[in-house]
Amino acid sequence: MLKVRDLRDSFISYFRDSGHQIVPSSSLVPKDDPTLLFTTAGMVQFKPMFAGTVDLAYTRAASVQKCFRTSDLENVGKTKRHCTFFEMLGNFSFGDYFKKEAIEFAWEYSTAIIKFPRERIWISIYEDDDEAFDLWRGRIGIPAEKIVRLGKADNFWGPAGDSGACGLCSELYLDRGPEFGCGSPDCKPGCDCERFLEYWKLVFNQYYQDTAGALSPLPRTGIDTGMGLERLSTLVQNVDSIYETDELRQVAEFICRERGVKYEGVNAQCVNILVEHGRALTFAISDGAYPSNEGRGYVLRRIIRRALRYARMIGVHEPFLHKIVDPLVSIM
Ligand code: GLY
Repeated sequence: MLKVRDLRDSFISYFRDSGHQIVPSSSLVPKDDPTLLFTTAGMVQFKPMFAGTVDLAYTRAASVQKCFRTSDLENVGKTKRHCTFFEMLGNFSFGDYFKKEAIEFAWEYSTAIIKFPRERIWISIYEDDDEAFDLWRGRIGIPAEKIVRLGKADNFWGPAGDSGACGLCSELYLDRGPEFGCGSPDCKPGCDCERFLEYWKLVFNQYYQDTAGALSPLPRTGIDTGMGLERLSTLVQNVDSIYETDELRQVAEFICRERGVKYEGVNAQCVNILVEHGRALTFAISDGAYPSNEGRGYVLRRIIRRALRYARMIGVHEPFLHKIVDPLVSIM
């Protein structure tokens, strides 16, 4: 079975072999970008390269980026797939390749390297992006009924922060089977149930959005992709939730052992929240964020409070969260 560590390595090797500069993750605290409290995507460290405001030392790159988002905070632990901290596998083009190659790379990595069965992959595209439709249908051979057209909420991405590159996108989903589904005859990508899991978003950067929200063409088009490592691992390891993948499972097992709780029902939910929030806080604090009563620090404080609330439900009434740090460091 491919472990989380193997997946990081395989993504990096594949894109290195296809001519991409491998760039280390940047900090969760963005440098020189006051409009963002945290690094929310792989493209954040490349914003100036997309905007065309710096000289380019390379025109294609790939990374495994530490990311932090709180838009799904209340779902964390309750669903099987939402995180505040996650790792994003991404490949990027700055005026180099565009839609065709981005689609071909994503398809080859999914089917030839990861070996997802091609008949289980579904695609979403922006509602009137006929060019993306023709590429998926004509070049890759996806049946038309497996290419779903979705609106702006799903298939227009960016900018990160209050201005920057953005564009239409296309997503890859894996059909996990009807046993994960809601049973509706209309169930397909875009449905809220757990059957079709989106694992990769390809953004076709074409516009620059300014702080007033106006779009203008980018000086050069580009590609920005994001694949959640936790979701990819869930699919590759064929487990029910991100908390059952090899790295997060070990943290959950540590908590259960320490607290003498069984990983089931509401207890499992509380443990998941401690795993996820403990990991998010560890990474954020090691990158220089610090709990406080404003801005970035207040986000951390809210996460600590939420973790403590659920910790109490499994009988924790004394400082505990810090105990996760050492096992987490050795696991990751
Ligand atoms: N920038 C692509 C993503 O966040 O999925």
